[in-house]
Amino acid sequence: MITLGIETTAHTFGVGIIKGREILANVKDTYTTESGGIIPVQAAEHHKKVKEEILNKALKEASISIKDVDLISFSQGPGLGPCLRVGSRFAAKLSFENNIPLVGVNHCIAHLEVGSLVSDVKDPILMYVSGANTQIIAYESGKFRIFGETLDMGVGNFLDSFARFLGIGFPGGPKISKLAEKGKKFVKLPYVVKGMDISVSGILTNLKQKVEKIKSGKADYTINDLCYSVQEDVFSMILEVTERAVFHCGKKEVLMGGGVSCNKRLQEMTRIMGEEDGLNVFIPPNNLLSDNGVMIAWLGYKMFNALKDKGEDINKLIIKSSKEVESIEIKPYERTDEVKVYWRN
Ligand code: ATP
Ligand code: FE2
Repeated sequence: MITLGIETTAHTFGVGIIKGREILANVKDTYTTESGGIIPVQAAEHHKKVKEEILNKALKEASISIKDVDLISFSQGPGLGPCLRVGSRFAAKLSFENNIPLVGVNHCIAHLEVGSLVSDVKDPILMYVSGANTQIIAYESGKFRIFGETLDMGVGNFLDSFARFLGIGFPGGPKISKLAEKGKKFVKLPYVVKGMDISVSGILTNLKQKVEKIKSGKADYTINDLCYSVQEDVFSMILEVTERAVFHCGKKEVLMGGGVSCNKRLQEMTRIMGEEDGLNVFIPPNNLLSDNGVMIAWLGYKMFNALKDKGEDINKLIIKSSKEVESIEIKPYERTDEVKVYWRN
């Protein structure tokens, strides 16, 4: 069975193709800027421009034609409305024109489920650190429940905002990570863990003040030192909450997900925690950690098979008219714990 997944919740237009659990293609194009942040309408324009090309590249990489596809899956939410609209209509149009069943999936859960495509992780604490989200999640009694999360910004958006302030462009996480390697001195920053949640907006304000101090020549630290320190500080906050969730839930595995999890230092810190606590740490490859179509395909595949097992009429999933294409539902604000997880036992 061949599944084609389409990802468009934010900056990335991605198409992933899997055959069973074999990855045939993972093609993407990401909207970036030199200095400013992400502008939703511009990102959506980007997606419109590249969609056909990325689809064709993916089909070519997989050596198949669209007629070979058995299921189309798309990210239905959460995310930026204009971006979700491009992806959902594109997916629905493909379903309509080629008579292929269509399922909409939750982007955050796709980040998490992709772990089970590339490893034998079973029942982990999921450390989901991405642009818009930072959540510590575990599957308990039929749902992905959030045991801790950010009270304000996702850590990725926080790093992007800091990078924007430094004028080094979007996405900021990788750029900060590079500068951090050159940092030598740890500069104390606010460390904000409240119960099981973290907060980063105060740290951003503090960082901005420190940058101004550097600019006025009054600081005894550099921008590189700040980049190094912010990683140490905020990643420790995330790990403190993760570690407590692990013990609270009695889990033995930690799975990383989301774009910020590409960060080498965060991976290293998580591995150290795993060694100290006797936990198995699972880290999918970078091209599956940040936004991608494969994770959307994989979750769609799981959901579709569960629906089939329940005896649902699969034909109902095929889009029947261009009116249906236009009115396909998106869920910009859907939360991880709102989703009914019918595909797991
Ligand atoms: P969400 O999944 O919450 O909707 P998103 O789709 O924007 O958010 P991802 O693609 O999972 O998020 O991740 C993008 C984020 O990851 C960006 O904020 C980017 O700065 C950050 N990021 C990517 N690589 C790194 C890195 N090496 N270090 C730190 N952050 C990184
Ligand atoms: Fe994402």
